[in-house]
Amino acid sequence: MAFVTRQIIRTLTTSATRNAAIKTVTIIGGGQMGAGIAQATASTGHTVVLVDTNEDILKKSAKGIEGSLKRVVKKKFADKPEAGEEFIQKVMKNVSTSTDAAAAAQKSDLVLEAIVENLKIKQGLFSALDKAAPQHTIFASNTSSLPITDIASSTTRLDRFGGLHFFNPVPMMKLVEVIKTDSTSQETFDALMAFSKALGKHPVTCKDTPGFIVNRLLVPYMMEAIRLHERGHGSKEDIDMAMKLGAGYPMGPFELLDYVGLDTAKFIIDGWCAMEPNNPLFSTSPMLNKLVAEGKFGKKTGEGFYKYK
Ligand code: CAA
Ligand code: NAD
Repeated sequence: MAFVTRQIIRTLTTSATRNAAIKTVTIIGGGQMGAGIAQATASTGHTVVLVDTNEDILKKSAKGIEGSLKRVVKKKFADKPEAGEEFIQKVMKNVSTSTDAAAAAQKSDLVLEAIVENLKIKQGLFSALDKAAPQHTIFASNTSSLPITDIASSTTRLDRFGGLHFFNPVPMMKLVEVIKTDSTSQETFDALMAFSKALGKHPVTCKDTPGFIVNRLLVPYMMEAIRLHERGHGSKEDIDMAMKLGAGYPMGPFELLDYVGLDTAKFIIDGWCAMEPNNPLFSTSPMLNKLVAEGKFGKKTGEGFYKYK
């Protein structure tokens, strides 16, 4: 009997702890990453407010989420189309949109930022939200390359600030890098790990070092592919094909650069080059600079290294 009672108490305690877990999430930035993270979050029963600068972008984000959900459902509910439609409606009900980041943050357990890869802009955003969000709210950035410590320095909640780095396309990619700075509390880190698992992702622990794990390896590889092409040592088509057929990568480096966004790739490499100008792995590329100056950001603008319909 005592054993049963102890079990009941343990179960209640566990569910109380679970209840204290992250349930309501504000995601700032409704671009390819923010929309994808919103989808993954809403699909797992969390309440999400997706924030961007204007309604037109948010309409596009919502349309993108619905389109992506349809692709997921086509496979997941192949034999039950009605259940699939119900799932989409249920998920979409969990997502609302807003242009008022402060108002959304007031009601959130987690504020996750996925805006442009620019330190000053991210700091400005978090500094404002620090005043609006409740004490318990955890802040996280999806930055690809900036130090979480530098972004967090614009707030007074260094212990409740970490990195949550998702991968593109979020609905398909299982990994989340969870970044613990020297100031992130163990409680915050545990909450971010638990949240990643609740999304059905596989979290790995990262230190707050440039590019964490994946981008520290992936970005120099993609830049090296551009340099190989710039030297005239291979066409982009051949380099892409070589890496797909010879190394088993799902996309070649130029396809992946276009997929990630050339603007984002340039923000990353420019930042690292400024930090370590003598590191040849971090050197910039005239070809990348030219494409970005021409507004060719890759798939999202219809042209990058390749053209898209
Ligand atoms: N939403 C939902 N489902 C999707 C999807 C999306 N956005 N993208 C692909 N899928 C699913 C669909 O079921 C799709 O089938 P349908 O086309 O019939 O809907 C299926 O995957 C197959 O997709 P594709 O035919 O388009 O192509 P694919 O088999 O090559 O898979 C891919 C697409 C998953 C993107 C794969 O090419 C891949 O893994 N590419 C590498 C991606 C990668 O490396 N990402 C990391 C980038 S780096 C980063 O994110 C970090 C950073 O900070 C920059
Ligand atoms: P994106 O250009 O597709 O989207 C960025 C969105 O942020 C835009 O919709 C923009 O309007 C919005 N935005 C900009 N400033 C804002 C502000 N102050 N308030 C609200 N919204 C604002 O970019 P993305 O590819 O989604 O990347 C977003 C972040 O995620 C970047 O930090 C990037 O480095 C990181 N990231 C990108 C990838 C990738 O593959 N693209 C992967 C992982 C992480």
